[in-house]
Amino acid sequence: MSLWSFLTRAPAAPAPSHPAPDAAAIAADQNQSLLASLLAMAWVVEARDPYTGGHLWRVSRYAALLCEQAGSAKSVCARVAIGAFLHDLGKVGIPDAVLRKPGPLSEEEYAVIRTHPDVGARLLAGHPLAGWALQAVHTHHERLDGQGYPCGLAGDDIPYAGRVVALCDAFDAMTSTRPYRAGMPVETALERITSGLGTQWDAALGRSFVALGSEGLLDHIAGHSDDGIPLQQCLMCGPTLVVRREQRAGQTVYCRNCGGEHRLQAASPGADGPALQAVPTGGRGTAADLEPLADMALIERFVRDSAAQALA
Ligand SMILES: [Fe+2]
Repeated sequence: MSLWSFLTRAPAAPAPSHPAPDAAAIAADQNQSLLASLLAMAWVVEARDPYTGGHLWRVSRYAALLCEQAGSAKSVCARVAIGAFLHDLGKVGIPDAVLRKPGPLSEEEYAVIRTHPDVGARLLAGHPLAGWALQAVHTHHERLDGQGYPCGLAGDDIPYAGRVVALCDAFDAMTSTRPYRAGMPVETALERITSGLGTQWDAALGRSFVALGSEGLLDHIAGHSDDGIPLQQCLMCGPTLVVRREQRAGQTVYCRNCGGEHRLQAASPGADGPALQAVPTGGRGTAADLEPLADMALIERFVRDSAAQALA
């Protein structure tokens, strides 16, 4: 079934001779549809920034792993992972001139950035699934020492989801390339995390995260945009190129920054790096090629993995 029909289908009316539909199954189906539409919106918001390809997927994967490592119940892990995927929803309210600025931000611009947790929380408020994600969306920039935003919460006043996502979001920002700096190696980012435990980040969660990293359990997520899919770079201007799991050799991908067209070519057998290499064609995408489009196959997989567990 296509995701569109999955998203839009109404529960079928039962034939008179059939048993009544199971109310729990209908509710689960509706929750999956609602969740898929929320994740698709978050994806399109993220796609506005050409340097953040795969960020939501990575932060949600780190968050799920960290919650498991911390011993949380499966339902908690799933809800925090969903909150992690949605955490930057409020960036829809940030102008491109600030969101895509290729350099450090001024104090005024940083004040604009600091509005996004409140904007995201207002967007979610009243949504039937808000309870799964609101805390992560609203509190992922709080700091343990009370110096974060938007509320300046400190210590255990910061909800668990916010403390988890704060760590995972910061680690992904450190290990990702930005217009004005290259991404840090994983080991260096873990050292930074360690040095901020008890002030910026929750110490127990941070130690669990560093333990995951030291065991190499973050390596298949860092620098990737899906399981087994490493990020590539636009060879014309530098930002990330996201190749989707369902794409095949001969298909095209476009840089979200310069619009440069790249064709996917199968790597030679035994070669290091991605199985499909993005090679610039010298062309540029049309407006239709460059439309932001959520990766609905990835979202459908995420929904199937997380929605039932979140409900448990
Ligand atoms: Fe954020």
